[in-house]
Amino acid sequence: MRVDRFLSNLPRFNRQQVRLLLVERRVKVDGQVVSDPHHEVREFSHVMVDNDVLQAGKPARYFMLHKPQGCVSATSDPQHRTVLDLLDEPDKGDLHIAGRLDFNTTGLLLITNDGQWSRRLTQPLTKLPKVYYVETAQEIGPQYATTFAQGLYFAFENLTTQPAELVVLGPRTARLGIIEGRYHQVKRMFGHFDNKVTRLHRERMGPLALDEHLAPGQYRPLTEAEIRQI
Ligand code: URA
Repeated sequence: MRVDRFLSNLPRFNRQQVRLLLVERRVKVDGQVVSDPHHEVREFSHVMVDNDVLQAGKPARYFMLHKPQGCVSATSDPQHRTVLDLLDEPDKGDLHIAGRLDFNTTGLLLITNDGQWSRRLTQPLTKLPKVYYVETAQEIGPQYATTFAQGLYFAFENLTTQPAELVVLGPRTARLGIIEGRYHQVKRMFGHFDNKVTRLHRERMGPLALDEHLAPGQYRPLTEAEIRQI
């Protein structure tokens, strides 16, 4: 929300007073004086007027988990353990998953309470490739790469997938980079050739690669540098 709106929503200031506060440079967001009424205030921002703290700002949290097989990418599930069950953190209800993985898919899962950050990571507009290591039941034919690069029509969503990059590693193994994250997308792409995916592992999301020191089920907070890359 814009800082002028944030301030004028408070019962103590009207719009005229807010304009003056900003011009008089009495407003600080995250320790910096702010005079631009458009300046963005988020739930994580620390906001002060003179020496009064108007919003303490809750901490933004970002985690990288090595998702194991056999757990659900959801915040709760009546039957199975969820990826959040693997996190030993307070206030887990605030957290959400940036790009789910299927029950038996393994690999990089990013979990955060920062909705803007996770949208940047997952929305197709930003074109950050999600890279998967894939094993299949049948041999991967030479025509797969061209078909994936051209995009596949998904009738259910009535859309054509964005160009995807396939690197064939062996007769039944490949690395696939996709821009979107449609429902069961990788399995459906190989399913186009009646080829069942037998193993799926996400190695990377945009610039963030799964930390090789994390065993399945382990997680760690992202570093400042990793958070800033998105
Ligand atoms: N595509 C799939 O089919 N499954 C996943 O878990 C991720 C991408």
